[in-house]
Order: sequence, then structure tokens, then C-alpha cells
Amino acid sequence: MNKKLRESFHRAYMTFFENAERTRRWNPFNDIDWDALDAAEPDRQLAVNAETFCGVEMFLPDYLDAHLELFGRDYAQAWFAANWGYEESKHSLVLREYLHRSGQRTEEQLHDYADTILSRRWERPYDSPRQMVIYGMIQELTTFVVYRSQRTLALDTGHAVLADIYRLIGRDEMAHTKFYQHMVALHLDEDRQGTLADLAHVLRTFRMPAEQLLPDPEARSALMRSTGINSQVYLRDIVGPTLKALHLTRHDLPAPGSPPGRPTGETRG
Ligand SMILES: [Fe+2]
Ligand SMILES: [Fe+2]
Repeated sequence: MNKKLRESFHRAYMTFFENAERTRRWNPFNDIDWDALDAAEPDRQLAVNAETFCGVEMFLPDYLDAHLELFGRDYAQAWFAANWGYEESKHSLVLREYLHRSGQRTEEQLHDYADTILSRRWERPYDSPRQMVIYGMIQELTTFVVYRSQRTLALDTGHAVLADIYRLIGRDEMAHTKFYQHMVALHLDEDRQGTLADLAHVLRTFRMPAEQLLPDPEARSALMRSTGINSQVYLRDIVGPTLKALHLTRHDLPAPGSPPGRPTGETRG
């Protein structure tokens, strides 16, 4: 990696870390009003959703493996992985606490669930480091959108504690999205045509980890329904804001199969 990029990555990480330390630290012990749980009726669907997202967050060891394998020798990106992993670790933990403290799952059920989840493996979907940075950017924004819709659902059904949990997690996911957008912008400065080609490719082929991890097509489509993400929402809430944040339009993206350097605009994005 050239010196300029290395230094830019470091500054991007320091900005991310400073914001995190100064404005975004929270923990499941002090920052959730667990006593208020008594006011809400258990809701089967909300519990299943919380369990599913808890499960997706539980593949953290695989996400970290992939990240460290690709970026472990780059100071800024390795330190990001460490900090990011700490933040992500709280996401499954707080959802697990919610399921237990609300009386909707027993300790034993939760341990069995963790065993089932961790017996599977998430494989990273792209080989190239830059494509994985782009994938991270899209994945984080997708999770933000998912948690935002779950928060609305929880608020609408009188589950204030769960809504607050989704608010805290969603705020982390948005911070992760912004960090990745910053990294992708630096890649664009460094190699615009190559990065645009990678961006077009990842936007066209992106799948949520849950889609890869849930083998049963029925469970998969139930999950996609509960997340509210379909191709229209994907374009409107994920592709659109991503391109905007990068100061791009879909016309900047090369068409499938076109050689790098010749954007035509005829893409799905
Ligand atoms: Fe997360
Ligand atoms: Fe995240």
C-alpha cells in the first residue's frame, strides 16, 4: 500500500475512534432500562426477529477472521477491526439479554441457539480486499436499515425497551457505515475506475449474511419479509444513499462485463 493511502486510512480510523470514545460508548448494564420490561407484553414475532438478528450478529468470529486475514497487517484497518469487533460483540449480547430478561427464552435455549449458530460458518463473499471494504459499507448500512425498521415496529407495538436497544445498535451500525464510506472514498481517490468497477460489482451481487447462513428457503424468505428489505427498498434506502454519500450517481458505475474505465450507466444501481 502506498504511503499516502496508509496515512489517510490512519486518519480515518482516528476520526472514527475519537467519535466512538467521545460520543457513542454504551453498555447493556447501565444504558438499558430493564425494569421497564415489565410494562410490555411478550410478542412472539418480535422475539423471533430479535433472536434471528442476534444470530446474525453471532457470526462475529467469522467476520473478524475474514477482516484480520485481509487487513491484519495494516495498522489502521487492524485496529478498526479490534474496535469494531468490540462494538459488534455488544449487539448480540444485548439482544440475548433482552430475550432472557423478558422471559421469552431460557438460558438453556440461548446456549443451545449459540451452539447451533456457531456450528455453521460464514464465508467471506469476495476475495479482493477492496471489494470486502465495499461489502462492509453496504452490509453496515443494510443492518442499520433493518434495525431502524425493527425499532419502528417495537415502538408501534409498545415495546420501548426493545426499541431503545435497536436505537443503540443502529447508531453503531451507522457509525460503521460512515467509516466504510470514508474508506471507499479514499479508494476512489486512489483508483477511481477500479473502485467504481468493484462498487458496481458488489452492489449488483450483494447478499445479506443471513441469506447465506439460513439454508432453509422458507426461513430465508420469512426473514427477508421481517426485515422489510426487497429490491425496491435496497435501491432506495441502500444503493441511493451510498452513491450520494460517495458523490456518485448510477451513471458513474460501469455496466456488467464492461472493461474498467468505461462507465455506461446501464446498471441496476
Ligand atoms: Fe451489529
Ligand atoms: Fe456494524
